[in-house]
Amino acid sequence: MRLSGKTILITGASAGIGRSVAEQLAPGGNNLVITARRAAELEALASIIRARGSRCLVLPADALDEAAAAGVVERAIAEFGRIDAALLNIGEGPAYNMATATAAMVKACMRINYDVTVHYLVS
Ligand SMILES: NC(=O)c1ccc[n+]([C@@H]2O[C@H](COP(=O)([O-])OP(=O)(O)OC[C@H]3O[C@@H](n4cnc5c(N)ncnc54)[C@H](OP(=O)(O)O)[C@@H]3O)[C@@H](O)[C@H]2O)c1
Repeated sequence: MRLSGKTILITGASAGIGRSVAEQLAPGGNNLVITARRAAELEALASIIRARGSRCLVLPADALDEAAAAGVVERAIAEFGRIDAALLNIGEGPAYNMATATAAMVKACMRINYDVTVHYLVS
């Protein structure tokens, strides 16, 4: 990935695709802002990012919490002045059988795929 000198916010960076993209952007001399709920995983990733030449701001937050998401954006801009690009990557596939699913299960899945993105888009 050929981005350099950019400030990039990655949500869901503690695992999977978000973590992998962060690792690939690390050699570019970027400012990476990484967020998810698990702080220890984010700190471990931050060590890798810094060792590869990028700056890294670790901001653990639950993206279902609108105020927490807004706080991530606010702190990122306070630290780096702007956000050039964002990978709003948090989500999950429904892990249930629709024949037996409850409304609560479907709504929880929609929240983790929709609300979290809205919380970052409006921040
Ligand atoms: N992997 C695939 O083959 C595939 C295919 C199509 C689409 N996708 C989509 O791509 C995205 C990433 O997939 P993935 O496989 O990389 O998922 P993953 O490995 O399960 O990672 C999900 C990330 O989201 C974070 N997260 C979950 N809930 C959160 C919350 N409430 N607040 C903050 N962070 C939260 C997790 O961190 P914490 O647990 O630390 O919070 C983790 O970093 C998802 O939207 C998925 O639906 C994936």
